[in-house]
Amino acid sequence: MNQIRANAADLRLATAIPDAVAPRLEPLFLAFLKEFRLRHPAPAAETLVGAVERISAIYNRRLDESSFARRALLDARRHFFMPTDLPKVWIPLAEHLAVNPDLLQKPRISVLDLGAGAGACASGLLLYLGACGYKGTVQLRLDEPDPELAQSLADAVASAALVAGLKTERLCTSQSLEDLPSSPNPDRKGGGSALALPNPDRKGGGSSRDRFDVVLCQNVVNEVFAPETFVDQGLDLVDRVTRLLTVDGAFILVEPALMMPSRRVSQLRDRLLTSDYNVQAPCVCQGPCPETTTRAGYCFHTIRVPSDPYLQRLGDLSALRRHEVNFCYLTIGRGQVTYADRARELCAGGPDTSRLISHPQKRSGGYMFFACHATGLVRLWLPRHLDRDDGLVRVKRLGLGSLVFLDQGPRPGADDDDATESSPQD
Ligand SMILES: C[S@@+](CC[C@H](N)C(=O)[O-])C[C@H]1O[C@@H](n2cnc3c(N)ncnc32)[C@H](O)[C@@H]1O
Repeated sequence: MNQIRANAADLRLATAIPDAVAPRLEPLFLAFLKEFRLRHPAPAAETLVGAVERISAIYNRRLDESSFARRALLDARRHFFMPTDLPKVWIPLAEHLAVNPDLLQKPRISVLDLGAGAGACASGLLLYLGACGYKGTVQLRLDEPDPELAQSLADAVASAALVAGLKTERLCTSQSLEDLPSSPNPDRKGGGSALALPNPDRKGGGSSRDRFDVVLCQNVVNEVFAPETFVDQGLDLVDRVTRLLTVDGAFILVEPALMMPSRRVSQLRDRLLTSDYNVQAPCVCQGPCPETTTRAGYCFHTIRVPSDPYLQRLGDLSALRRHEVNFCYLTIGRGQVTYADRARELCAGGPDTSRLISHPQKRSGGYMFFACHATGLVRLWLPRHLDRDDGLVRVKRLGLGSLVFLDQGPRPGADDDDATESSPQD
């Protein structure tokens, strides 16, 4: 594996969530929980443990059943998985806003959440926009076929909008992914230049207001698509969803950080690369995903869940560590710019770009990260003399998903003595 050895002086890094936004997220998140629990009082943590463990077993494929449309699991979804899944959208959204900062200037942002569930992703988006100081209106279309979730979903987004200080226009529907328009030329469907939207109430026609600035789809497709047809179905979905986007819009697809779902997302990304789609984030590699060329590697990202006593108690009781959550994702944009291009510009970084895909591994001589690089998987080796300058501070800021920009590229096959063979997932 190639190696990049970097000196602190050369290191320029970009973490997705800007320093001005990051400290505002935790208070908003805690205020959101308080507000939501006024509408839906949380049962004693002890009574929810069994349902939490059951859902976790389903998500981790130890139980072969569906996590949704099950009344008995509703409170666990509502009071544990919804809030802990909520921050997953923050990194993709932060990156999209770096690419498309004008979004925050729009008086109205239009969002479609496919398979909105109990509201994790839509609420996460509202809190993030609130933390950015957005003051406009968010037009939300929440597609969720499970009627049991309707009230919970509505209360989650209402709570998020309230604490984020946002006005919302909301439409919840029971539409499913299969109902998205599949005409090869959507312009022909509704007449004129408008896109035909997945709106059952609309009888043809349409306007620019019917396009979405952001389409979200979190933890849905791995439950809906068959593994063997995932990539083809994913391509079809991307094709149909991108037609619903505004000119700078983005489709954010978030999936669990499990080996097979994540590898399938990477395979989908590889196929998208051979067509005209712009995978805006997270990939920096220009060829096939380096993880799909390994036998068992897979790419994922991590975000910390702000600390809340109830969530912690439930996490402790169920032995589920959700103080940080892992996920994989793809952001497919309509524009041509990628997040890496934009981040390089913003931090005046060198031409050589890597995305960290492992936590730091401390070695005797310094720190080692696995990184996704334009040329494939590389080791990023940061020698210990970083301690003598501000390098250590920078290393401490580095985390899964950080982008690192350097002036020099990798040295072919240059293995360091300290950098012994292991994998990004170790
Ligand atoms: C694991 S949940 C994820 C919910 C939410 N997006 C989140 O991140 O918490 C999957 C959701 O997809 C919904 N779903 C299942 N099949 C669907 C379909 N064909 N179209 C839209 N949503 C669907 C389910 O009802 C369920 O609420």
